[in-house]
Amino acid sequence: MGNLLSIYDIKDDVNKILDLASELKSGHLNNRNLNGKSLAMIFQKSSTRTRVSFDVAMYQLGGQSLFLSSKDLQMGRGEPISDTAKVLSRYVDGIMIRALKHQDVVELAQEAEIPVISGLTDLEHPCQALADMLTIKEHKGDFNRKITYMGDGNNVCNSLLLICSILGMDISVACPNEYKPNIDITNTAKTIAKNTNSKIEITENIEDALKDSDVVYTDVWVSMGDESEEEKRKKAFSQYQVNQKAMNLAKEDAIFMHCLPAIRGEEVTSEVIDGKQSVIIDQAENRLHAQKAVLYHFLKA
Ligand code: CP
Ligand code: NVA
Repeated sequence: MGNLLSIYDIKDDVNKILDLASELKSGHLNNRNLNGKSLAMIFQKSSTRTRVSFDVAMYQLGGQSLFLSSKDLQMGRGEPISDTAKVLSRYVDGIMIRALKHQDVVELAQEAEIPVISGLTDLEHPCQALADMLTIKEHKGDFNRKITYMGDGNNVCNSLLLICSILGMDISVACPNEYKPNIDITNTAKTIAKNTNSKIEITENIEDALKDSDVVYTDVWVSMGDESEEEKRKKAFSQYQVNQKAMNLAKEDAIFMHCLPAIRGEEVTSEVIDGKQSVIIDQAENRLHAQKAVLYHFLKA
């Protein structure tokens, strides 16, 4: 039994999961393999894509899901995570959780007797990164590419660093010094990259980061949980907006990606996110296909 709390947890299975996702998407696989299985979905934060795509994924695979808002669970009134983990393990076959603190998900996984899948924490967003790579594979054909991530070195950025290092894709993160991605994750990604020939760069220089880039990616400047720093963050990231001028520094056929939700006029202009280089809706669709592969991988008998 395994868990998916970090992309690192599936470092030997990323290609297999992506191939399975493509196969499931094409409809070539009998995909009712989770018949009779249940997934508990705990949410401590808002969600559109993660909630709906996991829900539909379980349904399409023949299973069912239970949406559990943490404020309605006894956990929200202080019931220990360990009791929640042990009790849910007797009812359902897997837990998907979107949590405020990564450490809480680590504890949940330690105490649970069933697979735990992260649907985002403050540290990582592994299911997003899988959907992102599926999208790049479809639009670019291979991972012998360079992606530039602009803005906040946050959860989405951390998972991208790991998955790019595993798949041998070059990644350049352009961010202010005080908002660099997690240092341990960066070091892990750099160690993996030595064996996969992926180049990892963290820089404040936008021109360097965007040069020869095939994919330009950004995320919100104020993530869920960072609301109290809104003004400070908007100031710090103002130079890192993805606008047409920034897109023109990348390759002519570069695609634009965003995990969504987006704030037009902040991290990206409408011209770019609603323009012809943008693949955001394909990317959002791929959450469903990538997660079906994740669920199949972790929950099948
Ligand atoms: N990208 C993403 O995880 O979206 P939601 O917050 O809507 O789930
Ligand atoms: N970095 C964002 C991603 C939302 C899907 C957040 O954590 O709010």
